[in-house]
Amino acid sequence: MRKKYVLGNWKMNHGVNEIKEYFDNFTYESNSAYVGVCPQTLHLEMAENLSGPNIKIGAQNCAYENSGAFTGEASPVALKELGVDFTLVGHSERRQFFGETNESCLKRIEKAHENKLLTVYCIGESLEEFEAGKTLDVLTEQLKTGLFPILDKVLGNIVIAYEPVWAIGTGKTATVEIITEVSAGIRKILGTHSEPATGISLLYGGSVKPANSEEIAGIADVDGVLVGGASLKVEDFEGIAKAF
Ligand code: PGA
Repeated sequence: MRKKYVLGNWKMNHGVNEIKEYFDNFTYESNSAYVGVCPQTLHLEMAENLSGPNIKIGAQNCAYENSGAFTGEASPVALKELGVDFTLVGHSERRQFFGETNESCLKRIEKAHENKLLTVYCIGESLEEFEAGKTLDVLTEQLKTGLFPILDKVLGNIVIAYEPVWAIGTGKTATVEIITEVSAGIRKILGTHSEPATGISLLYGGSVKPANSEEIAGIADVDGVLVGGASLKVEDFEGIAKAF
């Protein structure tokens, strides 16, 4: 059985007080899903002090070396020391604004795994690629270059998040039909690697909110969601989590 995930990506939002308040108010406990949030790197040390909420803590990115001259990066060793459970890799904002490539994602996933961090590998096509009908070609490349070379090694410690770039932060959610078709397509691509790879949990991300989470939860190939904007408010995030 594939595991379910409801993850919030806070991006560069929330300060210390807001985070404390968030966790004080976070009461939801899920028996069925792994529920987690990704604060900014600067706030990850709060993960260590978390008591109470049944919530995992993730980083938004993870370096591809354990230590050394890599100004501005977050070491996977340090993340683990702080009590971080998982990390995003290859979020489209990293790809768009910070030059992240499939090749660098591969190295990050490997290091995260070596340090026992679960990776949520984010893939997705741009609006232009979507309109040109290239979605599955783009996803194939992101998987074949960014994950497959180390997939045997990291299998069991990897989750994939399909996030169409045109649906992130735009209020435009992909329709159930699109998500159904693309998620089935992703499982097929995974099948070209190996049979066990088809059992990887697959999340959808892009303008997920309480109002659309139930229909997304109903899609057979989708095992959870990666939520940006709507994860910033406890009530909204808990509402989404309940759908899973
Ligand atoms: P959004 O962001 O839910 O605000 O569209 C999703 C994401 O970037 O992971």
